[in-house]
Amino acid sequence: MFEDVVNVADFERIAAEKLGPGPHGYFAGGAGDELTLAENVSAWGHWRLRPRMLAGLSEWSTAAEVLGAEVSAPILVAPVAYQGLVDPGGEAAMARAAAAAGTVMCLSTLATKRPAEVAAEAPPGRRWFQLYCFRDEAVTRALMDEAVGSGFEAIVVTVDAPRGGNRERDLRTGFAIPEELGVPSVEAALGSARAVTIEETFALMQPALTWPYLEELAAECEVPVLVKGVLTADDGALAVEHGAAGVIVSNHGGRQLDRCPATADALPEVVDAVEGRGAVLVDGGIRRGVDAAIALALGADAVLVGRPALWGLAAAGEEGARRVLELLRAELELTLSLCGCASPAELTRAHVQRAPAASLYSP
Ligand SMILES: Cc1cc2nc3c(=O)[nH]c(=O)nc-3n(C[C@H](O)[C@H](O)[C@H](O)COP(=O)(O)O)c2cc1C
Repeated sequence: MFEDVVNVADFERIAAEKLGPGPHGYFAGGAGDELTLAENVSAWGHWRLRPRMLAGLSEWSTAAEVLGAEVSAPILVAPVAYQGLVDPGGEAAMARAAAAAGTVMCLSTLATKRPAEVAAEAPPGRRWFQLYCFRDEAVTRALMDEAVGSGFEAIVVTVDAPRGGNRERDLRTGFAIPEELGVPSVEAALGSARAVTIEETFALMQPALTWPYLEELAAECEVPVLVKGVLTADDGALAVEHGAAGVIVSNHGGRQLDRCPATADALPEVVDAVEGRGAVLVDGGIRRGVDAAIALALGADAVLVGRPALWGLAAAGEEGARRVLELLRAELELTLSLCGCASPAELTRAHVQRAPAASLYSP
């Protein structure tokens, strides 16, 4: 079925047809006027690559190290809620796709499968768990314990959602998450015998997170803790100074604060502020291997993709998600080779420049 599907945009088109306006709007949409959502994509296009010639290379590898272990490419799967809405295998299918592609999958707290279920239903693979913190500390710890006990290698604490963003697409389509889906990881942590809704779950979350709280969590956690949702130099520095193993420069795919910077624009200042004291990853608007290459050249250790992998899963299940990850990896490899780099680690800021101003806001 993949003959006519040559890029991520093709996968989104197929996914949109399959899902229909309500579910597609839930996954595709952003907050407010969706300005940040759009700029996340366009901002990568505001950079140009500066390729080097006669590098004498005939072999290229996209392999890289992320948090001390190897991936086939520094292109990881971002945590996206409710994957069971687009495929019966849900997050387990996504985990199998990521494992087959040789990369890391990050499982959301708001997944339709618990960490232990994903571990049981997918072959061994590198997995991280995205943690929302709860007012009841015991719930937060229970979530973390299940993930760590199930072999998840890092905890990704999302800090950009003290409240849910204003998603007008859902208001217009009237789409709501079906209540029967529940939030299994939270139900298990609560010891609840019934399905909890997304609204109930958000009401139980802790909005008042602080840096000292993060430091305590990181100190107690047996695996590295990454802070997801950082957009400024100050917060990047604070994260590593409070025990984080790194940060993910992210604006939640434009779903939280509309008019915050595109992640491509926030990335350089965070890289500079972290000063190598931790890993710097970035997500938001990565739709091409060339976007990933620009992020790596600007100093990211890896990128994550949210919607692209989801479109693959929606279009063709596990196989579709794997295909998207492999397609992005192949695009990155081609970009590396045309830039005269043998590996992602060779990409530096010398390989990028700003696009001419005249082209910035043209379609
Ligand atoms: C439908 C949807 C659900 C998401 N759910 C979560 C979540 O549960 N936790 C989280 O930290 N981020 C969540 N995100 C944000 C992603 O992890 C990621 O930051 C974002 O999708 C990256 O942008 P991209 O989709 O343009 O690649 C979600 C994103 C989408 C589109």
